Amino acid sequence: MDIRGKVIIVTGASSGIGEATARQFAREGARVVLAARRVDRLESLAQEIAAMGTGAETLVVQADLSKLEDIQALISQTLNKFGRIDVLVNNAGFGRLDWLENLDPKKDIQSQFDVNVLGVVQTTRQALPVMITQRTSVSSRTVFTAVRRPSSTSSVMLLRFSGRFSVIVAT
Ligand SMILES: NC(=O)c1ccc[n+]([C@@H]2O[C@H](COP(=O)([O-])OP(=O)(O)OC[C@H]3O[C@@H](n4cnc5c(N)ncnc54)[C@H](OP(=O)(O)O)[C@@H]3O)[C@@H](O)[C@H]2O)c1
Repeated sequence: MDIRGKVIIVTGASSGIGEATARQFAREGARVVLAARRVDRLESLAQEIAAMGTGAETLVVQADLSKLEDIQALISQTLNKFGRIDVLVNNAGFGRLDWLENLDPKKDIQSQFDVNVLGVVQTTRQALPVMITQRTSVSSRTVFTAVRRPSSTSSVMLLRFSGRFSVIVAT
């Protein structure tokens, strides 16, 4: 796939895998939307990308992926600036690894589900209408993605998977 000029949303672009992914896409000349809560880190990455001289454009969007209004703003700002979405990389998330009884019910358990699961579902849901129209793709770091048959409406966690639309699942 030729990445040059593609519009790629990377959630969790302020550190780690998301930051490295966004940087690599920018090296290859993509138009990269950098989303996370730590906007200072996103802005310094955007400056670094501008200095690469690859012609890559960036859009920085401060977003808490556990909040539907932030997700909606991420998608609308992307469409306002670039007019399309070619790739959505659902990377934002975190892990709290400890014995269950040691985890805080809200801070560790509820918030992890809100970002790692519902954040992915809601972000994909918001991007889907335009991506289906454009026949573009989603990459998720989780494994729950599955086929939705036309007759089935049983779960909001199921995504389309057919000749019309592709889902790439990276575990
Ligand atoms: N590294 C591993 O071995 C490993 C293993 C399994 C799964 N994963 C998953 O892979 C992804 C990347 O991992 P990593 O190692 O690169 O982690 P990382 O360096 O901690 O990066 C996590 C990213 O997610 C963002 N994020 C967290 N909560 C968010 C929220 N509520 N709203 C928006 N953004 C949020 C963070 O940005 P802000 O804090 O600025 O919002 C940050 O940019 C994560 O989803 C992680 O759970 C990683």
